Amino acid sequence: MKSHYPEVYAQWRQDPVAFWQAAGEKIDWIRPATHVFNAEAGAYGRWFDGALCNTCENCVDRHVEAGNGERLALIHDSPVTGQVRRYTYDELLIEVGALASVMQDYGVAKGDRVVIYMPMVAEAVIAMLACARIGAIHSVVFGGFAAPELATRTEDAKAKYIISASCGIEPGRIVEYKPLLDEAIELSAHQPDGCLILQREQLRCELIPGRDGDYAELIGAAKAAGRISECVPVAATDPLYILYTSGTTGQPKGVVRDNGGHMVALRWAMENHYGVQPGEVFWAASDVGWVVGHSFICYGPLLNGSTTVLYEGKPVGTPDAGAYWRVIQDHKVAALFAAPTAFRAIKKVDPQGRLISEYNLDAFRTLFLAGERSDPATIEWAQEKLQRPVVDHWWQTETGWPMSGNPVGLGLLPVKPGSPGVPMPGYDVQVLDDDGHPVARGELGNIVCKLPLPPSGFPTLWNAEERFHSAYLREFPGYYATADAGIIDEDGYVFIMARTDDIINVAGHRLSTGAMEEVMGKHPDIAESAVVGLADALKGQIPIGFYVTNDGVNRDPCELQAELILGVREAIGPVAAFKTVIEVARLPKTRSGKVLRGTMQKIGDGADWKLPAAIDDPESLTEITEALVREGILIRE
Ligand code: COA
Ligand code: AMP
Repeated sequence: MKSHYPEVYAQWRQDPVAFWQAAGEKIDWIRPATHVFNAEAGAYGRWFDGALCNTCENCVDRHVEAGNGERLALIHDSPVTGQVRRYTYDELLIEVGALASVMQDYGVAKGDRVVIYMPMVAEAVIAMLACARIGAIHSVVFGGFAAPELATRTEDAKAKYIISASCGIEPGRIVEYKPLLDEAIELSAHQPDGCLILQREQLRCELIPGRDGDYAELIGAAKAAGRISECVPVAATDPLYILYTSGTTGQPKGVVRDNGGHMVALRWAMENHYGVQPGEVFWAASDVGWVVGHSFICYGPLLNGSTTVLYEGKPVGTPDAGAYWRVIQDHKVAALFAAPTAFRAIKKVDPQGRLISEYNLDAFRTLFLAGERSDPATIEWAQEKLQRPVVDHWWQTETGWPMSGNPVGLGLLPVKPGSPGVPMPGYDVQVLDDDGHPVARGELGNIVCKLPLPPSGFPTLWNAEERFHSAYLREFPGYYATADAGIIDEDGYVFIMARTDDIINVAGHRLSTGAMEEVMGKHPDIAESAVVGLADALKGQIPIGFYVTNDGVNRDPCELQAELILGVREAIGPVAAFKTVIEVARLPKTRSGKVLRGTMQKIGDGADWKLPAAIDDPESLTEITEALVREGILIRE
């Protein structure tokens, strides 16, 4: 089929308001918008201003009312526990309605914040929907974060209530959630009114009387009494959730998502970008703690009336590199969304793709990759082995849905390996130099989007309006600064090459090197430190720390390094994959004292680098090279 993308993108350009108004017709509104776009509201305007709606009603009740209650809504496939649980839309309504009632019993009401700290269990999605149902604002915290990260988020969001579980299950180890939760609550200056704990049979935990409720007990009672709370009308511009993401400091940024615009954009994306129909099965192999999990495990597929898969396992080792093909076969998955790192892991174990032929993938049409740069070798391998389109697409927590991609639903465009496609309607993507002037086609620069952001774009940061302006809007007036650098080629394809800030991407996880430096800096023996992300064949990037000790410190480096590694693991979490630290006599700096992290990274990656003009002492870079060679990270030619 010939792609309709050019016409559709042109339609949006010609009349963005009419475009999104038409897209909004696929959503049930309790009261329609007074302004589809109100340019006077918010920092750059607000979408669907004046409308009333409920996101849970659109994800669940609407399908039941339309007679599709027996359709499968959610499949929890958990190779780590050997269980598969299926929920129809009818059953999902009962679960969500019961949990919403229990939360209301605790006094949780519209606008209250609820932290969800859960492993990949169905109850995590049920909890998100239950919050949406009563107008509470959820903030899901990824299970791989440590207690201090959970504390920061609980405190910043001033969570009234926390929903958690006794444990998560990682291959080979059970992650005890409860001690992490208790520690986080102790660390937080703000105390929640109560917690609801899902006891998992793999490891039960002690509940604190007066604070912790037992999920199964309370939800069981609510279900037995047939309690299904009503959907609470909220403004389209009210927050649906806060999702904290890494910024340039240890203090994460609370990205706020609204209700109305979010629904409109996701519904449009499911149909037109992913090309998935109601009743078909969509699987985003991410975690509910990331934006991909929010948009395309929970909200997008359910808004679309599709079936979503929640997978509690890994691409390899649960039990083998055929795990993804098994899930696709068992649940007749039409489209899979995964991080390239997962495919690099599969390719490493099964380079010939032999396991693919052991499964029936007839229902499977398209593989979507995002979260980090897709290297052409991985795309080409997947295309060849799967004999299906492999589509890279680019987006961020801040936008909630693809900024660029290959809209399969409009007809596949030619795939250019290395490029996450073309701008989606809603995004006027441009490349500017550091002074804010457009660069020539094909030239590298700062990738920006002309304001306003489309529906689903974040209107602000929670409790941090000034940071929202300074981090995103001030550098290039009139544009949203993505903090990605890249190019747009002659055909309008976008290429994302690097971040312009200190964010690194480890196995598709967005992490701040600044936050790791803050943790190292707190060690009493450390004078200063620098963390850079070096290229890694599996994870894309891995963090490498460099440190200088205080004068007079004479410690065994192995012991000190173990303390630093443990410090980051305990402060940020295992997900940081912080495993290498190197002692150096000094850090390379400019004459004004700026640490030359960019040059250190280039040296570590074995890439070409130039001596920075403002360097204080060129010899300091030779010392970094020597240290990397000594550690076996850099091979001397
Ligand atoms: N709860 C607790 N710990 C977690 C966790 C969770 N939800 N998720 C990861 N961790 C831990 C892991 O157990 C590991 O701990 P370890 O240092 O003790 O081994 C550490 O965090 C790093 O985990 P991970 O990044 O998953 O690396 P891995 O080496 O275990 O596996 C891959 C490598 C490629 C298989 C894995 O990273 C993967 O599946 N990536 C997909 C990424 C993804 O979905 N990204 C979302 C964006 S789309
Ligand atoms: P997150 O907010 O966690 O989704 O991370 C967003 C960042 O991940 C982006 O700013 C990019 O740096 C990177 N990213 C996401 N998708 C892609 C992609 N398809 N290609 C290159 N980088 C990507």
